[in-house]
Amino acid sequence: MIPIKPVGPGTAPGAPMAPAATTVAASPDAHVASAAQAANAYLKPGILNLQSLPPLSLYVHFPWCVRKCPYCDFNSHEAQGGFPEQEYLDALRADLEGALPLVWGRRIHTVFIGGGTPSLLSAAGIDRLLSDIRTLLPLDGRAEITMEANPGTFEAEKFKAYRDSGINRLSIGIQSFNSRHLEALGRIHDGDQARRAVEIAQASFDNFNLDLMYALPGQSIEEARADLAAAIDCAPPHLSLYHLTLEPNTYFAKFPPALPDDDASAEMQDMIEEATAAAGYTHYEVSAYAQAGRQSRHNLNYWEFGDYLGIGAGAHSKLSFPHRIMRQARYKQPKAYMQQVAAGNPVQEEREIGRGELGFEFMLNALRLRDGFEVNLFAERTGLTINAIEAELNAAEAKGLLYRDYRIIKPTVLGQRFLNDLQEMFLVDQ
Ligand SMILES: C[S@@+](CC[C@H](N)C(=O)[O-])C[C@H]1O[C@@H](n2cnc3c(N)ncnc32)[C@H](O)[C@@H]1O
Ligand code: SF4
Repeated sequence: MIPIKPVGPGTAPGAPMAPAATTVAASPDAHVASAAQAANAYLKPGILNLQSLPPLSLYVHFPWCVRKCPYCDFNSHEAQGGFPEQEYLDALRADLEGALPLVWGRRIHTVFIGGGTPSLLSAAGIDRLLSDIRTLLPLDGRAEITMEANPGTFEAEKFKAYRDSGINRLSIGIQSFNSRHLEALGRIHDGDQARRAVEIAQASFDNFNLDLMYALPGQSIEEARADLAAAIDCAPPHLSLYHLTLEPNTYFAKFPPALPDDDASAEMQDMIEEATAAAGYTHYEVSAYAQAGRQSRHNLNYWEFGDYLGIGAGAHSKLSFPHRIMRQARYKQPKAYMQQVAAGNPVQEEREIGRGELGFEFMLNALRLRDGFEVNLFAERTGLTINAIEAELNAAEAKGLLYRDYRIIKPTVLGQRFLNDLQEMFLVDQ
């Protein structure tokens, strides 16, 4: 089945860290090496020759929430009476400083502050974070700067201050406007707070996304339709519509709620296609719908196999160098992360993506895009020629899962439906 859960560097990037081609624990004495020496190790001759480096994004993970939702497997921890705001912001700054040699001179095109619930941060906290980022990195003047926000944390003044500090896009975790379903999802807000959150967002932000989930416990098609209509009524420039999935190691996995059956959720998916199209939204990625020109630039960079530096607890990075592409993951537990930053080594796992994995990793991301990708992008981002996946492309085309011409490669309607099967065709034995 199609992966419908969002992917982001906070928890699960486009591709998992394991199995690793070359898994190495980050060098324990990395912090004593000079910044230049550290960077040199990544610049050595290697398995690839990239003609240019891709666009670079910054992801910042905030790992606390008021309460852990029973369906959620993101790296989020109950704040239980508070969280160490200053200490965490200090750690983020030190983390970023330590990572600078890996991205020296590269402009940042988008920033995403995700979680967790980053809207638990005070206005002064967000202001400090953004000023640290601007001080340390060349942030593009037109950068898209998104923050995730939970409707249970909305205060008009605070959100106005976020905007004044430079946040220019909000991603609001509405999930549903129906209080009964919100309760079943263990959310900290009800339907009225969801509506109020959108009003507050609209007062200061012209660019925002609403996250909605469907196929919720006990949800009928009519209720799903009413939820989507309520969301569309708010005229959000962007909508993320996720089929609720039962993730391993969550409360729902242990105590599964009664969910709509496959026929009912397929009917909901059809309803979503019709209603979003009628309201002028383009379905451009598995779960993402946008008004013209309002696609998420940050997420598009993931799907186009761009680079991202992820700082904060559990954040993942994918960074290209002229002769290699690296993945990194930082310590997940907030306390361990802060301790490791203080010790000069927040990276828990680091590995180079092997040549044999690159085709799959690229396709895993790019095939999520309904319009696919330009053929040249494959070589640009992987350093391989398209011939490296010629046999797999032909096989997918023969099965009717893939369309290709001299210019573009994209999943067919059948390929979109069986996206996992299509993606797996590019997984070659190492
Ligand atoms: C990283 S979460 C953070 C958003 C924010 N903390 C919140 O919940 O309000 C981003 C989105 O992923 C979606 N999501 C999380 N867990 C999911 C699951 N098990 N199935 C489907 N969607 C899920 C939700 O719509 C959520 O808003
Ligand atoms: S608020 Fe968001 S990140 Fe936090 S537990 Fe709930 S779904 Fe997960």
